[in-house]
Amino acid sequence: LKATIIADQRYTIGEVDKRLYGSFVEHLGRAVYEGIYEPDHPEADEDGFRKDVLALVKELDVPLVRYPGGNFVSGYNWEDGVGPVEDRPKRLDLAWHTLEPNLIGTNEFAHWAKKAGTEVNMAVNLGTRGSDAARNLVEYCNHPGGTYYSDLRKSHGYAEPHKFKTWCLGNEMDGPWQMEAKTAEEYGRKATEAAKLMKLVDPSIELVACGSSNRNMPTFAQWEATVLEHTYDHVEYISLHTYYGNRNNDLGNYLARSLDMDDFIESVVATADYVKAKKRSKKKMMLSFDEWNVWYHSNASDLEIPHWGVAPPRLEDRYTFEDALLVGSMLISLMKHADRVKIACLAQLVNVIAPIMTEKGGKAWKQTIFYPYQHASVYGRGQALHLLVDSPKYDSKDFTDIPYLDTTAVWNEENEEITIFAVNRHQEQTLELSGDIRSFEGYKVQEHIVLENNDLKAVNTVNKTPVVPKNNGKASAENGTLSAPLSPLSWNVIRLK
Ligand code: AHR
Repeated sequence: LKATIIADQRYTIGEVDKRLYGSFVEHLGRAVYEGIYEPDHPEADEDGFRKDVLALVKELDVPLVRYPGGNFVSGYNWEDGVGPVEDRPKRLDLAWHTLEPNLIGTNEFAHWAKKAGTEVNMAVNLGTRGSDAARNLVEYCNHPGGTYYSDLRKSHGYAEPHKFKTWCLGNEMDGPWQMEAKTAEEYGRKATEAAKLMKLVDPSIELVACGSSNRNMPTFAQWEATVLEHTYDHVEYISLHTYYGNRNNDLGNYLARSLDMDDFIESVVATADYVKAKKRSKKKMMLSFDEWNVWYHSNASDLEIPHWGVAPPRLEDRYTFEDALLVGSMLISLMKHADRVKIACLAQLVNVIAPIMTEKGGKAWKQTIFYPYQHASVYGRGQALHLLVDSPKYDSKDFTDIPYLDTTAVWNEENEEITIFAVNRHQEQTLELSGDIRSFEGYKVQEHIVLENNDLKAVNTVNKTPVVPKNNGKASAENGTLSAPLSPLSWNVIRLK
């Protein structure tokens, strides 16, 4: 089976914003407690943060982490999480039916982020709270000093402002499960007023308005249009969320879900541009895909978790090899839309639908999806290239014309390096990929990393890692032509320099 690509330096989509490889830590399950923070752990540092987890986060080179939610944020009083720990209240978290001890809050998380070498994508509560609490939080976090909230931060031991740049205006406000869910009109008004006040405190911040919780919401697209009609002049991004699962065990259909992601992104772009046209605006609204992943393995067992425990193991999906292939394709979808998707957050980072897992008191380890995420984050920075792709195709239950070859490339001009990311969706046959790369004269293959496995359902565990990438691909380049055999059902990273 043959497929071809043409990669040319002149066909660029746009610069990849490094925040495309962001992630997410919510006060949910064991993400915070037993995830990033476990003071009794042998690997805990002086602040109680797990050094083994920090090391894995650094391996992923995560540029941005959304915090503190998620559904959690819609009932969160940020004031509960600052000041002397012994004075902080324990609260019922109504989003996840747990007890929130508030041992970690805004300052500790900012401190952790610094250690992890990442930025914080901060969220404000527009469910049970509103513009007043939001503007106070901006003042607390970003104002240098000499005012009530900035001096309060100083008195809490943080002399320097955190300077959080990106802020989410609430979370999934269209969802009936959300605390104080809203209609698009209600949310659009509330988000606009909160945005105004927050930017009056700090005009340098960037804001993300909530799009639909997913594209199957009954109000999808109308929600985006209405919300943007209110917020257009006050925000920089509209959010998208999606989770996929292979519930019917239909692999061909499952691996095509990234086409749904493409279509979702393009629909939101179209809706945002409709509002732009209507407003005769010169501003282009950008997208923040601030929740995306595979999520379904833990759905049933999560229903059994008793209420009001602290940090129960919730949303602990164990990812299979086939999940890693789809995550690879979802990353390709994001890179292909780098001109409009500026921020994206793999939901989430540790223990909760996560690439990194931890054992209480024990090891930290990598799930299957760790690898495509790491490869994209590390090698996918630079100019996203618009590849011309010619691939044989197939049909599945929900999709037609699915290319067996799913691919994109990023050119890092500074390092004189181009990386081709590719998934072969064919279940039996090798794809013989041939590439016209003549504009990258003299470039040679540095490595061809392959993630493959005979067992689609193979999972990594704390002690066994059957799903690991190998640097054993057979790609080669000569006289401006790339040749690469792509094994059936494989994730490939071909680096040329
Ligand atoms: O990431 C898990 C949850 O999924 C988030 O809290 C919520 O925003 C979404 O529904």
